[in-house]
Amino acid sequence: MTTRDFLVWKAAGRKIVVVTAYDALFGRLVDEAGVDCVLVGDSVNQVLAGEPSTLSATLEQMIYHARSVRRGVRRALLVVDLPFLSYQVSREEALRNAGRVLKETGAEAVKLEGGAAMAETVRAMVEIGIPVMGHIGLTPQSVHALGGYRVQGRDEATAERLQRDAAALAEAGAFSIVLELVPAALAASLTSRVGAATIGIGAGAGCDGQVLVLPDLLGLNDAFSPKFLKRYASLAGEVRRAVGQYADEVRAGSYPDPDHSF
Ligand code: KIV
Repeated sequence: MTTRDFLVWKAAGRKIVVVTAYDALFGRLVDEAGVDCVLVGDSVNQVLAGEPSTLSATLEQMIYHARSVRRGVRRALLVVDLPFLSYQVSREEALRNAGRVLKETGAEAVKLEGGAAMAETVRAMVEIGIPVMGHIGLTPQSVHALGGYRVQGRDEATAERLQRDAAALAEAGAFSIVLELVPAALAASLTSRVGAATIGIGAGAGCDGQVLVLPDLLGLNDAFSPKFLKRYASLAGEVRRAVGQYADEVRAGSYPDPDHSF
């Protein structure tokens, strides 16, 4: 899968399947399941590290996880989130950090948050050969400025701003744009107007593809239940059941039995 395929598939109306992964084991499993793109999201900072937001994620942390995922992913396109403050301070710093991600992880593209304000940074990255996935709508790195994790683009002014943001990113050369928590009709309209492939999360079925956070999709994170989330498994209960049974058997002295001993 290449960044070019995103555009070819958009033109052909073929949906693009994206999922997050944070380690080699799940990278291999989702690649074997046939997803088209694996995102090493800075959501790792909340989902695995237990932090309250993505804001404290570091570049070193993202590189560490992306290197791990790379060892598992063979076929899907590998995209890595640039963490907060690794690309906003200056263009030079943004290029160096994005370049480090590609050099040190073997990923094929980076993702960054922000619309028109980031367009020149996106252009500069694309010009030196770094493919960029944009991210607009609810941008978690701006959660405090946005006043919480809320649907974006419900009123005319913010809907128009999102149209401008998507157009600016596509014009700057982003091959794809994540639309997070955007009303379905607006996301469908953005999708039909921009050249970049749109990937929705909480943005309805009219996007060119969809992304979900893997532990959410698998039902591992059962404390998190936003409206858009569909769980395709209930692994949290299964983990508790399996580990509970193991604990019971160890305490009862029934594990290991002769079949599991040398
Ligand atoms: O960090 C992440 O996992 C993301 C997806 C939710 C798009 O940005």
